Amino acid sequence: MSRHNLCIAVAIVVVVSCFAFVGCGKRGPEPPPPAPAGSETKAAAPGKIFTIGMSQCNLGEPWREQMNADLATEAAKHPEIKMIFKDAQNKTEDQQTQVREFIAQGVDLIIISPKESVPLTKPVGEAMDKGIPVIVLDRAIEGDKYTCFIGADNVKIGREAGKEMVKLLGGKGNVVELKGLMTSTPGQDRHNGFMEGIKGSDIKVIFDADCAWLQDHAQNEMKSALSRFDKIDGVFGANDPSAYGAYNAAKQEGKGREKTIRFVGVDSLPKEGVQYVKSGYLQATLQYPTCAPEAIDAALKILNKQPVEKKITLGTRLFTNENAEKGGEEIP
Ligand code: FRU
Repeated sequence: MSRHNLCIAVAIVVVVSCFAFVGCGKRGPEPPPPAPAGSETKAAAPGKIFTIGMSQCNLGEPWREQMNADLATEAAKHPEIKMIFKDAQNKTEDQQTQVREFIAQGVDLIIISPKESVPLTKPVGEAMDKGIPVIVLDRAIEGDKYTCFIGADNVKIGREAGKEMVKLLGGKGNVVELKGLMTSTPGQDRHNGFMEGIKGSDIKVIFDADCAWLQDHAQNEMKSALSRFDKIDGVFGANDPSAYGAYNAAKQEGKGREKTIRFVGVDSLPKEGVQYVKSGYLQATLQYPTCAPEAIDAALKILNKQPVEKKITLGTRLFTNENAEKGGEEIP
């Protein structure tokens, strides 16, 4: 190469490099490639808003309204998350559809409080297959194809309710058990726990019915129990609406039996179960936490690629006529 040609070549290289440099400066860093919709779990890009789809099995019950309100309150503390709430109105098929809608929408994470365990297992698995993490709250699904389960120990809650019944009845008597939905895990677990709790005592379950967590079902079932049995000493309602429905049935009967029958429930919402205990309608209620702060905390960790426990078990409290005003007592 001649000296003249060499100069031209060097000049071209310098000019091209300068353009490349100036151009880079103007464009700034390359944006990360868009995450393929519905494939891998999305990476946490700075400034990203995460969308969380929440499928609630129904909003007809106060405990679930409270769970959604608590979730919204917790989520509002974190501007990087946006919640989309769906209410399945106690219809399993609607809840299956909702999970699939969230998948199609490509949300970043799904929270579900399923109505029933078996039918919701498949849609949750489908979300996981698409790389969308799923947090299951309060009622479990089958198997282990989910990211994290958060709930209280319902066997323990049932057992404590049983032990409290033994105490209230002095170890003997006839009891009505108004069960929760037996196709849901809390329904099964609270029943098993209650049977464990009364084991070894002289308490007999003389009437039981699946009341599907609903106050009016419980009230009707209790009406039948009252008409069939003259001697009823206690009622275990798998949730406070069931126990309160039973109390109402006894009161409506008009024989004053609501004053002698001992009623025990579960949930302990301040304005519901705890208030019933303070008013003397129920004798005891076991707290069932709404899982909301733990759910949002777990969601943030998952979205930021931090590890979470597969199963987070929350504690409970016992509220009685003696301790309700003082905030109940923790059950170790
Ligand atoms: C509300 C509810 C609560 C109960 C929980 C069990 O739907 O029935 O009262 O503690 O669900 O999943």
